[in-house]
Amino acid sequence: MKHTSVAFGETISSNVLWAIAPMRREDLPAVMAIENALFSDPWPADVYRRQLQTSYTFYLALWACRGTEKTLAGYTGGMYYLPEAHLANIAVAKPWQGRGLGGLLLLAFLQEAVTRGATEVYLDVRRSNITAQDVYRRFGFSVIATRRRYYNDKEDALVMSRRLSPPAIAEALRRQWRFVQQSALPAA
Ligand SMILES: CC(C)(COP(=O)(O)OP(=O)(O)OC[C@H]1O[C@@H](n2cnc3c(N)ncnc32)[C@H](O)[C@@H]1OP(=O)(O)O)[C@@H](O)C(=O)NCCC(=O)NCCS
Repeated sequence: MKHTSVAFGETISSNVLWAIAPMRREDLPAVMAIENALFSDPWPADVYRRQLQTSYTFYLALWACRGTEKTLAGYTGGMYYLPEAHLANIAVAKPWQGRGLGGLLLLAFLQEAVTRGATEVYLDVRRSNITAQDVYRRFGFSVIATRRRYYNDKEDALVMSRRLSPPAIAEALRRQWRFVQQSALPAA
């Protein structure tokens, strides 16, 4: 794989090189495979296609690279309404979860938000999605409101947010890259 387009860093853990790069239109089949596997109400590919064409959005893809092979392990993205950013989506494919990659993607999004001038970030999360809430809390988010019966199936959304301090985000991202580097990997 060529790494010239890697915008947000990379690290090597065992034989895997992890790379975060802006999501591209040609990544969408791999994105949709993860989206459909993980979400009960997946976004259609058209929504992602439109998001990628919009100037106030930004999407990142996380790649696991082994030799010449690369596999999409996760993605995240959202919108910027400065001084606010809104994280719309984050996902890590099942086999890769629990190794710090969700945290890595989250911090990469926060870093991008800081770079674009955002000073606070908001997101919605299902009340039942404790795993995601725990990850958000670990990285400084807290619940500020509830949207009652927000989702199509009438589940509540919790609104979580955090303020952004550029040096703190940069340091947390550096630490998370190190954490991922040291995490155990499944057999190739
Ligand atoms: C939510 C999601 C993205 C998290 O991805 P992930 O890769 O499993 O997340 P991480 O590995 O970074 O975090 C999981 C655990 O790893 C460990 N971990 C991660 N970073 C760590 C660090 N720096 N130090 C120590 N432990 C760490 C923790 O045990 C953490 O759990 P905790 O936050 O409850 O303590 C993933 O579960 C997912 O894709 N879910 C389905 C889609 C979804 O629900 N998206 C959110 C929609 S709002």
